[in-house]
Amino acid sequence: MKHPKNWSRREWLVGSAMAAGAGAGAYGLIEKQRFQIERVSCPVTQRNAALAGKRIAVMGDFHYDDWGSESMLRSAVAAVNSEGVDLVLLTGDYVSDDPKYLDPLTSILADFRPKIGTFAVLGNHDHWYDTTYAMRALKQRGIRLLLNDGADLGDFCILGPDSAWAGSPMIRDDIARMPVGKPMIVCWHEPDPFDWYDDPRVALQVSGHSHGGQICAPFYGAIMKPNLAKNYTAGLYQKGSRNLYVNRGFGTLTLPIRFLCPPEVTILEFDSVPT
Ligand SMILES: [Fe+2]
Repeated sequence: MKHPKNWSRREWLVGSAMAAGAGAGAYGLIEKQRFQIERVSCPVTQRNAALAGKRIAVMGDFHYDDWGSESMLRSAVAAVNSEGVDLVLLTGDYVSDDPKYLDPLTSILADFRPKIGTFAVLGNHDHWYDTTYAMRALKQRGIRLLLNDGADLGDFCILGPDSAWAGSPMIRDDIARMPVGKPMIVCWHEPDPFDWYDDPRVALQVSGHSHGGQICAPFYGAIMKPNLAKNYTAGLYQKGSRNLYVNRGFGTLTLPIRFLCPPEVTILEFDSVPT
């Protein structure tokens, strides 16, 4: 009787690797559908104490034309509204390249109910498919776009530089135009330009763009980091009195998979610390 051939060591290794890859891929399809709320305490020194107690929600990198989920987005908006935040900041990359998905996306983003307002900046993708589409879609839904522009919100100001990769940012000019003596929040799509300025009046920069890597390896982290997200990938960073928070994003790009890097909604609160 002829016995079936046992698997060789190499066949076992290849088979195991394929099974692990298939399992990870299947899990990645599930992970991308489950957003996490990250609660962040952001320190502010006495100089910027006017921000203490303020709460902001941060979302971005929707890439809604790449397997965006209406139900997940509606759940995230409802979750943000239940937090009673002062501001909602949207960090850009609303769609990857198909502007017809902007209207269904922004119709849901229009449901945010922050105490002060919802502000948005553009990402590199919003430039690559033509900025006029995103500008029009946001405006139609009452979402204020900051494009090398700022807003004086009373106790503090907010600034929105243009995309550092695909646009023409002017951060030093933007800062110089703002009222002296008020703390600032910078909303900038790409995180690495945090190193391009050092004004201590900027208490916080919020960014996205990195997707947190989107696919991460255990004990290693982000496998791929896009241009201008090489130094700062996810979470809270500090440089002197300035803070940078990098949101992992809400959607996916290219592959409909996230691994060890779930979609994120950030709820950030400023806490004053002694100088
Ligand atoms: Fe981006």
